[in-house]
Amino acid sequence: MRIYCEKDYDAMSRRAACVIAAQVVSKPDCVLGLATGSSPVGTYKQLIQWHKQGDLSFREVRSVNLDEYYGLAPDHDQSYRYFMQANLFDHVDIVPENTNVPDGLAKDPAAECARYEQVAADLGYADLQLLGMGRNGHIGFNEPCAEFPLATHLVDLTESTIEANARFFASADDVPRQALTMGIGTIMKARKILVVVSGADKADAVLKAFAGPITPEVPASILQLHPDVTLVGDESALSKLTGAKG
Ligand code: F6R
Repeated sequence: MRIYCEKDYDAMSRRAACVIAAQVVSKPDCVLGLATGSSPVGTYKQLIQWHKQGDLSFREVRSVNLDEYYGLAPDHDQSYRYFMQANLFDHVDIVPENTNVPDGLAKDPAAECARYEQVAADLGYADLQLLGMGRNGHIGFNEPCAEFPLATHLVDLTESTIEANARFFASADDVPRQALTMGIGTIMKARKILVVVSGADKADAVLKAFAGPITPEVPASILQLHPDVTLVGDESALSKLTGAKG
């Protein structure tokens, strides 16, 4: 595992954007696995800037997002489809048809999960999967549980995740209670994984995930078994991980 310890969120974002840009430059038609949330916003901003400067093109890139709230329409301003349009897709030259996010309004969630897993499989899974991490160690919306879920599935969000995400909604009551998420198996099929973490409130989760036992109680701990992981964090998030260096 490579660890980059950066001084703050902006430096973390630039470093993560470098890793993604390197992927896109070395394989222009790559498959990017993408994430939402606060962690990758700065990374996407940097990628947009490089695109606007003429240094980076997403014309041939295909993308597959990790997850979507179940019950939110794509044009709901807290849906993950909306997030991706607003924070990346609308500002770069990616072809809209080449972007994939689970359908939060699917009538049959099990069928939607099977369809989405097939989309990822047909793309050959991600060349590079970008991940944020929850304070409870979740990746995608794979919450702590008894067994690592393999494929895309419908998940009940934990109180800790609902509480953490309530900041984006009018109140915690408005946060959807379920989500469609890639499974741990889907994520682990990516050729490379890039994790971005910032802030002191992630320090315990980082420690447990990367220096603790591998357990579905800390879903990100499975990444210790992946052969190509890059962890990019700011100093606060990595503060409890010994041996981290920039
Ligand atoms: C988002 C996702 C989540 C977030 C995680 C961290 O697509 O799958 O796992 O990465 O909840 O969220 P932030 O970055 O907002 O702290």
